[in-house]
Amino acid sequence: MKARNLMFCAALATLSLASCTNKEIYKDVEARVDSLLSKMTLDEKLGQMNQLSPWNFDELAEKVRKGEVGSILNYTDPELVNKIQKVAVEESRLGIPLIVARDVIHGYKTIFPIPLGQAATFNPEIVERGARVAALEATSDGIRWTFAPMIDISRDARWGRIAESCGEDPYLTSVMGAAMVKGFQGDSLDNPTSMVACAKHFVAYGAAEGGQDYNSTFVPERTLRNVYLPPFKAAAEAGCATFMTSFNDNDGVPGTANRFVLKDILRDEWKFDGMVVTDWNSAGEMISHGFCTDGKDAAEKSVNAGVDMDMVSETFIKNLKLSVDEGKVSMQAIDNAVRNILRLKFRMGLFEHPYVDVPSVPVKYAETHLQAAKEAAEQSVILMKNDSRTLPFTDKMRTLLVTGPMADAPYEQLGTWIFDGEQEHTQTPLKAIKEMYGDKVNVVYEPGLGYSRDKSLNGIAKAVNAARRADAVVVLVGEEAVLSGEGHSLANLELQGAQRQLVKALAATGKPLVTIVMAGRPLVIAEEAEASDALLYSFHPGTMGGPAIADILFGKVNPSAKTPLTFPRMSGQVPVYYAHNNTGRPAKPDEMLIDDIPVGAGQTSVGGRSFYLDAGAKPLYPFGYGLSYTSFEYSDLKLSSDTFGPEDEITATVELRNAGRYDGTEVVQLYVQDKVGSVTRPVKELKAFRRIFLKAGESTAVSFTLPVSELAFWGYDMRYKVEPGDFKLWVGTNSAEGLSADFAVSVR
Ligand code: NOJ
Repeated sequence: MKARNLMFCAALATLSLASCTNKEIYKDVEARVDSLLSKMTLDEKLGQMNQLSPWNFDELAEKVRKGEVGSILNYTDPELVNKIQKVAVEESRLGIPLIVARDVIHGYKTIFPIPLGQAATFNPEIVERGARVAALEATSDGIRWTFAPMIDISRDARWGRIAESCGEDPYLTSVMGAAMVKGFQGDSLDNPTSMVACAKHFVAYGAAEGGQDYNSTFVPERTLRNVYLPPFKAAAEAGCATFMTSFNDNDGVPGTANRFVLKDILRDEWKFDGMVVTDWNSAGEMISHGFCTDGKDAAEKSVNAGVDMDMVSETFIKNLKLSVDEGKVSMQAIDNAVRNILRLKFRMGLFEHPYVDVPSVPVKYAETHLQAAKEAAEQSVILMKNDSRTLPFTDKMRTLLVTGPMADAPYEQLGTWIFDGEQEHTQTPLKAIKEMYGDKVNVVYEPGLGYSRDKSLNGIAKAVNAARRADAVVVLVGEEAVLSGEGHSLANLELQGAQRQLVKALAATGKPLVTIVMAGRPLVIAEEAEASDALLYSFHPGTMGGPAIADILFGKVNPSAKTPLTFPRMSGQVPVYYAHNNTGRPAKPDEMLIDDIPVGAGQTSVGGRSFYLDAGAKPLYPFGYGLSYTSFEYSDLKLSSDTFGPEDEITATVELRNAGRYDGTEVVQLYVQDKVGSVTRPVKELKAFRRIFLKAGESTAVSFTLPVSELAFWGYDMRYKVEPGDFKLWVGTNSAEGLSADFAVSVR
């Protein structure tokens, strides 16, 4: 095993992003790629394009020895990683090292909130730190490539993978995706603690019809460019070294064979020189799609579209030799793909240090990692309602009932995609409340229900009895981890099992009721919100969710999160998102709803505008919404001018005052509307945000500088440009409220 000196790097257990780059490695990468390529047989080239998820070590070793494998996924034992790497490096003809991959999505051992929760922090620094922790832990086991960030714009809560996303907004997703890329990769790919990121799923996978996973999408080029592509472009600009194709067929073309996005956009327009991998068997699945006749056809269509590496379908390795012989795939296409793969391996420094050194200081669950996970969880929990200052609890509280199926569910609170997270390390809210506040408060626990889908009503009476004897009730409801994530879509977004009955019965006791929802998506909780005195929403918060929630309940931490997606009132309202285009008949604020419509009402006496007769026009909570224990007041919005040229910068300044009794952080949000465009434009678009901390009573001026160039979009002529005309700008606390000012962009 080649010795490596990890001591160069910042101590592994710290969160330092310091680089230990060997710049020499970068100097002559292209020459090294060409030199190696010139020595390779076609079989060896196809081997590099083949990624396997190994089942049997000996069988894998035989393939690696023959040069038939370029990458593996799902090895997590560092000794085994080194053993298979040794075969690649020392026993294969050319000694090309493998890249070892794994889905490390929101933590490896120390689990951070699901990406939706991380997005709710509106804090890219904390998100970057979370990805760095994941990289430090995973690379200590030899994992140098993760399949994250998932930056699919997700506007349909039925889609289970919304949990893995950063929500509905292109700008927020771009910022968070780039932060994750930086955190995973660190300063330099050749740092042994750098884990290569993978922007996925390219592209439009989140627009799955009906929210049903893997389903077809119908996103036309303009919407693709204005909504779905920007986070991928931002990831590429942040240096994301790999991209993954998507399972969906968009307007009939599966992501793995979509030459337009993989070549014309990714390579030609964005100049991406990284590597593109298929999703799991997505090449093979093009046969089921009815897009390819067989594996050979699938391999040809993938490579000709610009895919470099095949994840597990083995269609490339089995067929492409014949395809090259027949002239259906050019040698140049194969060479391009292999170049992209080798370039990455050289950039990662794998030829210099192929092996993993098990760190002498254990990095998994390091105290600093747990602290970072707690902080992320604290900033991810959204305060949706807080009537009569129910929260935080005061010294007057004597007996607190903790109840509900998510109160003590260590596995479930970790959320989806936690192959390596361990529930033994998870701190649940029940445990944390008892341990951290049990000396001040008598904590009584009655689960009420065994798990989120539990339909048995037997435990509810016990919980209600306990509630009657308590000063306040905290009920934790939501979703088990398995109800969201890949392949786990739902048609009904209400609380599962008898959870609704539980909340209702607890509310009927008249005791102050704090409902905490822990889930992988925005659930439909209108009735529970109404029935509760206070409501906290926690997208599955991870390992340290319990202590974070305990500190929020007892006021040590003041909530600051904002929702990264719109909460529907009813399941049938989805997809619902704030940045929609206006219709010709927008709803009025006071539309008559279903219960008020007189019997026998005439066809044109009600409705006639764009809303649902039952759900209305508004969501339950708008994008960007989230309260604090304190209150913030906005005043005096000023723009640096009322007319700007295309090259100018707009400065917007607002006065922000913490008018409440607690110190707190406000996420100040800036939105813009392009009032008239060559195509219809969203009613509002987030363009900037800042987290501002103010002590109780303090005020400050908050300024944003927005280059006019950021008002550009793909218009009628499919060109990306700023269209001169009138705009409106808002600065405020969420997407539905704020101070506004008008300005114009003129042609100069
Ligand atoms: C399929 C998923 O769609 C993708 O996100 C994941 O990275 C791969 N499987 C590998 O596990």
